[in-house]
Amino acid sequence: MTATLQSTDSSREADVRWWWDAVVYQVYVRSFSDANGDGIGDLTGVRARLSYLAELGVDALWFNPWYPSPQADAGYDIADYRAVDPNFGTLAEAEQLIAEARSLGIRTIVDIVPNHVSSEHPWFREALLAGPGSPERERFWFRPGRGTYGERPPNDWQSIFGGPAWTRVSDGEWYLHLFAPEQPDVNWSHSEVWTEHEDVLRFWFDRGAAGFRIDSAALLDKDPELAEVREDAPHPFMDRDAIHDVYRRWRAIAESYDEPRVLVGEVWLADAERLARYLRRDELHTAFNFDFLSCPWDAGRLRASIDSALAAHAPVDAPTTWVLSNHDVTRPVTRYGRADTSFSFESKRDGIPPTDLVRGTRRARAAALLAMALPGSLYVYQGEELGLPEVENIPDARRRDPIWHRSNGADPGRDGCRTPLPWSGDAPPYGFSPDGGAASWLGQPDGWGALTVTAQSDDPRSMLALYRDGLRVRREAPWGDSATIGWLSSTESVLAFARGDGFVCVVNFGPEPIQLLPGHDVLIASDNLEGGAVPQDTTVWLRPDATATIGEGQRKGVGL
Ligand code: NOJ
Ligand code: CA
Repeated sequence: MTATLQSTDSSREADVRWWWDAVVYQVYVRSFSDANGDGIGDLTGVRARLSYLAELGVDALWFNPWYPSPQADAGYDIADYRAVDPNFGTLAEAEQLIAEARSLGIRTIVDIVPNHVSSEHPWFREALLAGPGSPERERFWFRPGRGTYGERPPNDWQSIFGGPAWTRVSDGEWYLHLFAPEQPDVNWSHSEVWTEHEDVLRFWFDRGAAGFRIDSAALLDKDPELAEVREDAPHPFMDRDAIHDVYRRWRAIAESYDEPRVLVGEVWLADAERLARYLRRDELHTAFNFDFLSCPWDAGRLRASIDSALAAHAPVDAPTTWVLSNHDVTRPVTRYGRADTSFSFESKRDGIPPTDLVRGTRRARAAALLAMALPGSLYVYQGEELGLPEVENIPDARRRDPIWHRSNGADPGRDGCRTPLPWSGDAPPYGFSPDGGAASWLGQPDGWGALTVTAQSDDPRSMLALYRDGLRVRREAPWGDSATIGWLSSTESVLAFARGDGFVCVVNFGPEPIQLLPGHDVLIASDNLEGGAVPQDTTVWLRPDATATIGEGQRKGVGL
């Protein structure tokens, strides 16, 4: 797809660089499909649904952590990096799944969590037993406390999940956890931490994993002096320069495979230039575009976000990614139906604002076609293709997310976007588990009958049909090999761009319908056009025909 690919003119090279424009589907196994009826999604369930994913048209799957874990943070607290949680299956079945998916042309990306381990991980258990001053404690951040009796934490760092980032153990020392207390941070100044993670990478690469998604990728290095967080000083634990050495090493390992493996960073940084530093040629391959994910439904803001991402990625020759949701954020149909359509973790503490799901769904459809039209790779979080809303009325007793608990209920947490998928039928479990199985680990709402895969498969106007159709047209690459876009002049409430000679994308945010003039074939539209006009909150993909010319003529052609 890219200019670089073109110039090599080799299909092998193109295959090796599959990640440049891949569609990656995120599987949250616990909520995908439960084959054995215990109410928890599992690998057998994923294997049984691989044909669904192939039909959807995805190139790769990214699995949230499937390793043995006490599940204090939904698997992001790993007790053993080289095995599979018995709730999900076995290592042998994971290998089978990787091979089966590959036989359908679908690659597998697994998740690595290098910033912290589970408090049940052997290293942490050994550290607790070995006591203060021991080599076992060096793998973590154990420190004495402040105050006469060491009764105050070593510093004032706050956990990203709320509350202090330190917990005291029975012998009086404190240990650092940037997330929950069950997730002690490891010490990346320790050589064994390096070698262990490198070995884990090889373990899964050797089993066919095509890549890793790297959790909390910008947090690994910490200031050994434990300086406080201050506006006017380098951050003591975020985006510190030493991290890049870790990823240079990982890239070399990834490149050592016959089909080079791929590294995808979870890097939440506001500054696109700082983000791009992780994507230099000898570091990570791609990183999630959280700026785009968080952006409000607003033509100007989205255009600025797209421009900034493309501009920051170009110098490092890395593809941009386009992401609308994941397992940590509010479902798009809910978010886009609110008065404030942006996403931020902070605002989740301000209460749950009302939403208009009809409007939100319309916008989510338009956003999906926008994201699919942009150059780079695309991430689809399970259920996004079904237009599932955020579940906002989960009974408190059913909530699992440590954010909910650590904020004393001020933040509803992330359970609302992690509801088990509805596959068929009119009532829970909607085919998620076999009939007669245990209740699902997290309840599904009533009234999701129209959102099931079966119901949507029969409806050409459904969200699922839009994703299938959109991804099909995307595969045909109506933009040829063009990896750049050119904005077309338009009013403030419209985004319009050309990509290559044969493709134009128009998104109308405003109430005034945009009249399309003759000379353009409609490839796909996110909603019905009204008498040849693009209504509000609608995206359309156009192919200019011979009567339209790129540039000035095309601008006229789309009537902007
Ligand atoms: C980011 C993951 O996406 C999130 O789910 C997790 O809670 C934190 N990292 C901590 O591992
Ligand atoms: Ca199960």
